[in-house]
Amino acid sequence: CGIVGYVGRRGGSAGQEARYNGHSALDVVLEGLRRLEYRGYDSAGVAVITANGIESRKKSGKLTNLISELQARPLPESLTGIGHTRWATHGGPTDRNAHPHLADGGRLAVIHNGIIENFAELKHELAAKGFEFASETDTEVAAALIGDLFRGAAEGDLAKAMQLACQRLEGAFTLLAIHQEQPDVVVAARRNSPLVVGLGEGENFLGSDVSGFIDFTRRAVELGQDQIVTITAESFEITDFHGRPAQGREFKVDWDAAAAEKGGFASFMEKEINDQPEAVAQTLLGRAGLDGKLELDELRIDPSLLKAVDKIIVLACGTSAYAGQVAKYAIEHWCRIPVEVELSHEFRYRDPIVDANTLIVAISQSGETMDTLMAVRYAQEQGAKVLAICNTNGSTIPREADAVLYTHAGPEIAVASTKAFLAQITAAYLLGLYLAQLRGNLFSGQIRDILADLGKVPAKIQAILDDADRIKKLARSMSDARSVLFLGRHVGFPVAMEGALKLKELAYIHAEGFAAGELKHGPIALIEEGQPVFVIVPSPRGRNSLHAKVVSNIQEIRARGAKTVVIAEEGDTAVQAYAEHVFYIPETPVLLAPLLATVPLQIFACELATAKGYDVDQPRNLAKSVTVE
Ligand code: G6P
Repeated sequence: CGIVGYVGRRGGSAGQEARYNGHSALDVVLEGLRRLEYRGYDSAGVAVITANGIESRKKSGKLTNLISELQARPLPESLTGIGHTRWATHGGPTDRNAHPHLADGGRLAVIHNGIIENFAELKHELAAKGFEFASETDTEVAAALIGDLFRGAAEGDLAKAMQLACQRLEGAFTLLAIHQEQPDVVVAARRNSPLVVGLGEGENFLGSDVSGFIDFTRRAVELGQDQIVTITAESFEITDFHGRPAQGREFKVDWDAAAAEKGGFASFMEKEINDQPEAVAQTLLGRAGLDGKLELDELRIDPSLLKAVDKIIVLACGTSAYAGQVAKYAIEHWCRIPVEVELSHEFRYRDPIVDANTLIVAISQSGETMDTLMAVRYAQEQGAKVLAICNTNGSTIPREADAVLYTHAGPEIAVASTKAFLAQITAAYLLGLYLAQLRGNLFSGQIRDILADLGKVPAKIQAILDDADRIKKLARSMSDARSVLFLGRHVGFPVAMEGALKLKELAYIHAEGFAAGELKHGPIALIEEGQPVFVIVPSPRGRNSLHAKVVSNIQEIRARGAKTVVIAEEGDTAVQAYAEHVFYIPETPVLLAPLLATVPLQIFACELATAKGYDVDQPRNLAKSVTVE
């Protein structure tokens, strides 16, 4: 879910009272919610403190529904407010279950992200005291608890009520609360769920991440685990759940607001696909020295620990897990360290073998995926060191990891991942080369050559983007497809799976990625007249005979009626005879090919979904950041 909070300074004259810097709390909160909508969009709501007390509006569906509701039933201007975009966990996405939830006779409003695990027990306890609940949410129980404590033990002090409530809550939560008896204050708490403070002049902000207030300030403070923050227009104060003073970490937000906008493209997805040359270039930037030596001092980890590593386990979900699968081929080849790649949620619950010489590489665009966070914690408990590859500064996974390598893809707004994927592969390759350098597996000349090849990738991606018309045309012509298969081998295998995932996510078409070598062990049974199959063909310049093997796969499926769409390297004329359509990618070393071959597949899925009239930025049922297990 996305969360925003705001307090502005009281003006001098009566007319200015409910606006500060030209905006009211509602303007700020709605702008923040607009930027945070990618975190969840099945309902949205706001609450502000007005001269008449707390007033709230909430609506199921996307933010535009809430905005229409606010046009129909406007709210008076205000200097204190909170807002929420929801991705349902407890209770369906209805108006009633939308946040904020009110308590203390409508004087208190609360919003929440996460899951309160002991909510049933607390609900029972509060019901016995006479509380009645209007929704099925765990949030309403938290609101009732805070309200009860505000009236009771906290004696009218909202921060104190929040502390006492947090001592009772189990699970993961970010909670924000406002109370009309303390109209200049927003109190927030966090455990296992993100929260950042934004510092302004005469106004302060809260957000699930910095995009919640990026239009208003660049100064941010990251909160630690189990902390509470109280913001007013002039101050912020952090404590732990027992009221003891605590510290946050201040940082400057280096994303510009324009980067979080669509930049002239029809969708964030299209923009982000087009951002990829820069995402890769930025991720490489400043990491390779002039002498070709790789410098990753930012990792903050003792090199002797990395030297001692005897096994790497990559943990991730979704697209990030495919980035891990690509990286496995390169890291094993360069470093001669066994690399396992596992979905975080599978790893966590299977009694995996992990020890102090295991390096966990946690790959996460958001840094907040709960499955990956839990897997990381579990691995740390077993004594493993964790290195995070992450795109979001200040998020939970890099904060808890022993070492971090940031991908510099910039904010990724579209729910389905594109530029973060290429940036993750790039970062994982840098890590692989760094390990090889430390452990002496590669000569410095070899590392220099690979870095030089990586440096040429952005321009090659650009060439694919500049030549996107043909694949877009093909996508539009295939909008009736019921099922599409993707075949790849070696590093082309995870690329095939990612191509299939994009098509499922964006166009809701059944799609599967297979290892081409597996074809005759099952998938070939699916081939019938007209079945579209994408084939990622390895470079004919590769030293093994994979190219020939994949070309025979194409012949096998074509003989059975498949309609083949081939992604091959420029100059590979051998494939032409067997393909309905060939799309060429520039020449590049085999291990780097996924950074190119993925791009036409992304363009294909995006264009096909657009042709079907779907919202490619916010596909149905999906959320960008899955912050529940
Ligand atoms: C969700 C998103 C995917 C993403 C996955 C992992 O499922 O919809 O696009 O790949 O989470 O997210 P992470 O932030 O951990 O990379």
